[in-house]
Amino acid sequence: MSTVYLDGSYLPKAEARVSVDDRGFLLSDGVYEVTAAYGGRLFRFEKHLERMKSGLAALRIGFDPAGLREVNEELLARNGLAEAEAAYVYVQVTRGAAPRSHAFPKVEATPTVYAFANRYQRPERDRWERGFRAITVPDMRWARVDIKAISLLANVLAQQAAVDAGVEDAIYVRDGIALEGAHNNLFAVFDGVVVTAPKSNYILHGISRDVVIELANASGIPVEERSIPVGDLYRADEIFFTGTTTEVRPTIEVDGRRIGDGSVGPISTRLFDAFLSATLSRAAEAVGA
Ligand code: PDD
Repeated sequence: MSTVYLDGSYLPKAEARVSVDDRGFLLSDGVYEVTAAYGGRLFRFEKHLERMKSGLAALRIGFDPAGLREVNEELLARNGLAEAEAAYVYVQVTRGAAPRSHAFPKVEATPTVYAFANRYQRPERDRWERGFRAITVPDMRWARVDIKAISLLANVLAQQAAVDAGVEDAIYVRDGIALEGAHNNLFAVFDGVVVTAPKSNYILHGISRDVVIELANASGIPVEERSIPVGDLYRADEIFFTGTTTEVRPTIEVDGRRIGDGSVGPISTRLFDAFLSATLSRAAEAVGA
């Protein structure tokens, strides 16, 4: 039985209870973060904290997430993940329980804080080397997807569309532009240049995205942050996704069309290997902080 964290206590998951008046339950009124831990060390935690702070500020939820590092570390320890090769910790903060109304409660509610930790299972190397497939889907999300809000219905439907199509990922397309995946950021390689959508309110500013850009810069691989029209995407030499629960995942087919020569390309492979090294490096957290 896993141990979870809820509002200041660690308890068995089966005993955790949240009010039916919780605005997360009724209105998806909250934010979340998912942080990876490698060998028990949280990866780029300060960046996750910063992003959560800005999400909380945007939603005007009065909660200071500064104490969450300790919660994340404690959850890893209590769930036997302190030495795990790869794990992740999920934390969500909602505005709290209050009688249902769209506007904020008149009397400020106490935010509900829930967190759990799990093992992360990286695909076997030979599976990774065969590559993965994706489809494109219309982006029907709201216009503030830079906020890591728990309202993920459009992401749920997009990911299910991928599952129904028998592929691993869904790529959001808005006004003809390929933006990101349903739970990861999107990169394409054209003539040796790594391209990804610029930071805006139309993508989540992924921490792994930043790591991969840093790693590309450090390896002398040119990076451009610019829009990718979906027509260009099909002509990319390589495509890959990045994310906390995706790491670097290469795509060899989009909408049934072969990408490049249909095999995992050299830049995706280099960046995946560099990413794995970064997760192993004791200095990684310090560098990213
Ligand atoms: N998803 N884009 C979207 C829409 C995401 O939901 C995520 C992360 C990312 C990648 O962000 P990062 O590199 O910081 O994990 C991009 C998390 C893992 C999730 O929803 O479970």
